[in-house]
Amino acid sequence: MQVVLAQPRGFCAGVIRAIDIVERALERHGAPVYVRHEIVHNQHVVEGLRAKGARFVEHLSEVPAGALTIFSAHGVSRAVEAEAEARELRVIDATCPLVSKVHAEGKRYVMQGRTVILIGHAGHAEVEGTLGQIPGDTYLVSSVDDVEALPLAAETPVAYVTQTTLSVDDTRSVIAALKHRFVDILGPETKDICYATQNRQAAVRELAEVADLILVVGSANSSNSNRLREIGEELGVPSYLVPDERAIDPAWLTGCGVVGVTAGASAPEVLVDGVIAALRRLGPIELSTLPGIVEDVQFRLPETLA
Ligand code: F3S
Repeated sequence: MQVVLAQPRGFCAGVIRAIDIVERALERHGAPVYVRHEIVHNQHVVEGLRAKGARFVEHLSEVPAGALTIFSAHGVSRAVEAEAEARELRVIDATCPLVSKVHAEGKRYVMQGRTVILIGHAGHAEVEGTLGQIPGDTYLVSSVDDVEALPLAAETPVAYVTQTTLSVDDTRSVIAALKHRFVDILGPETKDICYATQNRQAAVRELAEVADLILVVGSANSSNSNRLREIGEELGVPSYLVPDERAIDPAWLTGCGVVGVTAGASAPEVLVDGVIAALRRLGPIELSTLPGIVEDVQFRLPETLA
């Protein structure tokens, strides 16, 4: 069996920075350090940090007064920021700079007198944060049907921003529907979809050209990992999201000559190694990596931890 790895795959610069922030905070300040929400959507990463003394909470009310608190890579609403301030928590913000950029864009559009429409998936932590950062009424759409249902007149000056981890193709069709629906509309095309999401989606497309089956290493709540699996399926290749090697069903591999493997932006390479080892246990494999794009993006740590 051939095993082909996508390039790039796995950790993006925002995830590396967020994990570094928690590790450095633990080194500098000692345990416990509180983290609001999973620092990145990966169970393995969360468990590893928990073992080092990080405590993950969903609500700031669970954090003791004055404790050191880290906001996850997905960002938070202004209400959460205000609550942290009111409770005098010491905050380190691990929001990915590319998510913060979307917050800033949204605020700028509101200052220009536009109604902002966020393209994203309801309930995702990043979407809740972005909706809560943009003042005024911000509308959330995730499909062309949602665009049709917007309670706004065609002449309303609008602008759109997007979640960073969407499908490039799906987003394009929603943007086309928005441009059809509104006469005065501004937006960043698909540029809010971050470099890491775009590169991993391009890489899974290449993988789909050579693979009979695709394994996407990532957690079930990881938006960008889910999009990678969907793209594989859309291209006609059976694709499975596997949190780790234990999720692989050997029956999937029956008659399969080439297995493609990729990983979402929050999935560590050690989990990819585990998947390769599990495939090797099923029989001899020939391992290769597609050429793809080599990324060199890095984000600086906050001043206080640099
Ligand atoms: Fe940031 Fe994109 Fe990663 S928004 S956290 S670089 S997936």
